[in-house]
Amino acid sequence: MDKNTQKARLKSIKKFNAVKYKEYNKKQRRKRIPESEYMTTMADDHNILEFDNLRTYFYTDAGTVKAVDGVSFQIPRGATIGVVGESGCGKSVTSLTTMGLLAGPTGQVAGGSIRYNQKSQNRAVDLTKLPRKEFEKIRGNEISMIFQEPMTALNPVFTIGDQLCECISLHMPELKKDEVEARALEVLELVGIKREGILNNYPHELSGGMRQRVVIAMALCCDPQLIIADEPTTALDVTIQAQILDLLRNLKDKINASIMLITHDLGVVAEMADYVVVMYAGRVVEQGTAEDIFHHPAHPYTIGLMKSKPMLGEKIDRLYSIPGNVPNPINLPEHCYFKNRCESCVEACEGLYPELVSLSKTHKVSCYLCGKKGGEN
Ligand SMILES: Nc1ncnc2c1ncn2[C@@H]1O[C@H](COP(=O)(O)OP(=O)(O)OP(=O)(O)O)[C@@H](O)[C@H]1O
Ligand SMILES: [Mg+2]
Repeated sequence: MDKNTQKARLKSIKKFNAVKYKEYNKKQRRKRIPESEYMTTMADDHNILEFDNLRTYFYTDAGTVKAVDGVSFQIPRGATIGVVGESGCGKSVTSLTTMGLLAGPTGQVAGGSIRYNQKSQNRAVDLTKLPRKEFEKIRGNEISMIFQEPMTALNPVFTIGDQLCECISLHMPELKKDEVEARALEVLELVGIKREGILNNYPHELSGGMRQRVVIAMALCCDPQLIIADEPTTALDVTIQAQILDLLRNLKDKINASIMLITHDLGVVAEMADYVVVMYAGRVVEQGTAEDIFHHPAHPYTIGLMKSKPMLGEKIDRLYSIPGNVPNPINLPEHCYFKNRCESCVEACEGLYPELVSLSKTHKVSCYLCGKKGGEN
């Protein structure tokens, strides 16, 4: 591209972004948003969360990054959903959008909805349209998040006690100081690290596993209905990882919450999840029960992921790795995003992006190889 064309391109991107930023800021400044704008109805009342064609874009100087581009899946009440996919496929952006933590005006919801079944109020709301004040009542209280890196999620200059108590008093302002401390110790006991003087410890005085337990304790302060865990064990060694996963599983049963577990570790998903969502370049390419995905994977990308998983007792020289790279999210092609890496392409793959087809009541896949089966069902 010559210099002038490049200049003109950057100028048009800037102009386009300026319009988007203006729209966003105007929306943010609005006061007294009527309830009718964010009230909705669940497609199925058994679900706690329903993503419906969610699109989250970043309007950057280099162009529009379509980080999440038409994602739809559901989280049934009390279930654990594993969201897998390689780095950059939009897992974290999906969770940040759910928590209302997108950094605007660059990051914006460009379309779709996230329906949340708010049983406490006997209503369903669309989280993408919820006013900030309303969101504050839900975030941390009813939906909470466990972040990937405990050292960045905790503030190094405050004690564990300060941080836990602040979190509790923010969400439960009616509690007195000693009640807040008692609650902090209660959640620390729940995550298995209640010990003498722990409230006075600073994060650096704890091991990585203990810090992650504190982060989980913070997420549990207010008996959440839904816990979003974004790579909760990636920063930990395998024995601690197993302990943390056990802990999450037990806690889920104790407080009867749903978990959205984001990871690129298929082993973790196999152990924990009831349902699995496979994402690729901002879209869901396959979803189903753990049995569907692990025993009958249909999308070539899922099959590739399965092949790249080490198996105990199987002697191989080298683990399989899917050739090639994820396409640039700024210039996504019209055809299937996996086409250039796929070993099973057919003629239809030259055409438009394949639609999601149902292989069974629970199993859906977006691939031309499975088109016929989908039509039959
Ligand atoms: N603030 C931002 N500005 C611009 N682009 C962003 C921003 N945050 C994320 N992205 C882009 O969105 C896409 C999805 O990112 P995301 O963090 O959701 O990936 P991920 O699936 O969580 O990956 P990982 O497994 O590495 O955590 C990436 O292409 C990333 O570059
Ligand atoms: Mg991530």
